Amino acid sequence: MTSAGPDTVEAIEAAAATGEGAPAKRAYVRRMFSEIAPRYDLLNHLLSLSLDRWWRARALNALNWQRSPNGVFLDLCAGTLDVAIRLARQAGFGGLVVASDFAVPMLQIAQPKIQGRSVVAVGADALSLPLRTDGFDGAIVAFGARNLAELDAGLQEVFRVLRPGGRFVILEFQTPHNALVRAAYHVYFHRVVPFIGRVVSGHKTAYRYLPESVAHFPSEKELADRLTRTGFVNVRWESLTFGVCAIHVADKPAAIHDP
Ligand SMILES: C[S@@+](CC[C@H](N)C(=O)[O-])C[C@H]1O[C@@H](n2cnc3c(N)ncnc32)[C@H](O)[C@@H]1O
Repeated sequence: MTSAGPDTVEAIEAAAATGEGAPAKRAYVRRMFSEIAPRYDLLNHLLSLSLDRWWRARALNALNWQRSPNGVFLDLCAGTLDVAIRLARQAGFGGLVVASDFAVPMLQIAQPKIQGRSVVAVGADALSLPLRTDGFDGAIVAFGARNLAELDAGLQEVFRVLRPGGRFVILEFQTPHNALVRAAYHVYFHRVVPFIGRVVSGHKTAYRYLPESVAHFPSEKELADRLTRTGFVNVRWESLTFGVCAIHVADKPAAIHDP
């Protein structure tokens, strides 16, 4: 590492797990997803008992792309393109999906899934997108927000690239509020997931990082407040599957026209 951040694996992991040390977290996240790319889809479906497909479908419904069926949409932290391709495949969708991620092996491994659909994959950091201001009719990030080394900077970038009136949807894991559900969730997420994840992916820390990063992610209310502070309006959320996930929806204010 060339940054001033921690330079031992242990320190990088400590910084990444607690959300401190943005350069360390950025480097760790990028490298880790690049390394697990070949097993990412399999583990997603296996560990979520395929609920991840349903969660993404719900998030896409919230995007309300039908308002601009020929529009340009951003899939941020697109990974292996499941959201981007699901959107491009919707009946009546005639627009373009720009799918961006900084772990290029994730995008590369998903290339065969594109099959001529209107999806363009772009290797880019979500914190400084090489995309034009006011250029997108909508944006969505699925399971990517908690991985951003600087969440507020990421929210600001999405705000910038959305056109006035454009919608932003965040799908992310949350910690369930109900004590009984939380106890079961804790055993599964902190014991079973790291074990299966390590065996199947062969990666020592990726599936330990997953529950730790969720534990340090803002609550539903705090994330909504941060979206509002960024400038979004009509901010709301819905919880899914006993509070294991939440979908946040936020709109960039429409342009103000002089009378
Ligand atoms: C858990 S995966 C989610 C992938 C996909 N959206 C899905 O639904 O499966 C998180 C993705 O966020 C990407 N990511 C994290 N921080 C990023 C950043 N600053 N810029 C671009 N991509 C980032 C990672 O490379 C990874 O592919």
